[in-house]
Amino acid sequence: MEVMEAIYHRRSVRAYTDQKVDRATIETLIKAAVQAPSSMNEQPWAFGVIQNTKLLTQYSERIKAYVLRRLKPGSPLEKYRELLSDTNYHVFHQAGTLVIICARADAHNGAEDCCLAAQNLMLAAHAMGLGTCPIGLARPRLNQARVKRDMGIADQYAPVFPLVVGYPKGETAPVERKAPEILFWRESL
Ligand SMILES: Cc1cc2nc3c(=O)[nH]c(=O)nc-3n(C[C@H](O)[C@H](O)[C@H](O)COP(=O)(O)O)c2cc1C
Repeated sequence: MEVMEAIYHRRSVRAYTDQKVDRATIETLIKAAVQAPSSMNEQPWAFGVIQNTKLLTQYSERIKAYVLRRLKPGSPLEKYRELLSDTNYHVFHQAGTLVIICARADAHNGAEDCCLAAQNLMLAAHAMGLGTCPIGLARPRLNQARVKRDMGIADQYAPVFPLVVGYPKGETAPVERKAPEILFWRESL
C-alpha cells in the first residue's frame, strides 16, 4: 500500500471481529513503530501488550469508573458521561489486543517520540488489513503507580499512547477533516 493511501484511509476502528492477532504480527507492528524518528535518536519507547480479553474487560470497567469519579463539571470529557456510564461500553472496543507505548521518563521528548511511533504502528497495521484505535481515555488510569505495577510497567517508564489492534468488523466511515489553517507562509523579507 502506498504511504499516501494509508494516511488517507486509516481510521479509528471501533468494531472488531473475534479473530486474534498473532504474536508475529504484533511484533511486525512494533518493529514498524520503532522506525519512527526520535529526539536525539534516544528511541525512548518500550511496549506492553495485553491479549487477554478478560483482563481487558476488567481494565475497561475500572477505567470507566476512574474517569467518571474524576469528571469535573466543565471538563471536555463531560460529553462522554452517559457513554462511560453505559454498562455495554467497552473502553477498548472489544479489541483483542492492547498495545501500550511507554516513554522512558528521562527522555527529552518522550511523549512526542511515542506518538510518532504510534502513528507508524497504526499506518503499518492499516496497510496489513488491521484496524487500530488510540485509547487516550485509558492513559490517566494506566499511569497510576498501582496499575503500572500490576501491568509490569517499570518505574522509569510512563504510558503515553495506549492503542488497540484487531481485525475490523465492517467498514469505518471516514471522519471529515477541517481545511488546514495556514498561519503564515513567508517567502520573502
Ligand atoms: C491522543 C488520542 C486519544 C484518543 N483517544 C480515544 C479514545 O479514548 N477512544 C476512542 O474511541 N478514540 C480515541 N481517539 C480517536 C479519535 O477520536 C479519532 O482519531 C478522531 O475522531 C478522528 O478519526 P480517525 O482516527 O478515524 O481519523 C483518540 C485519538 C487520539 C489522537
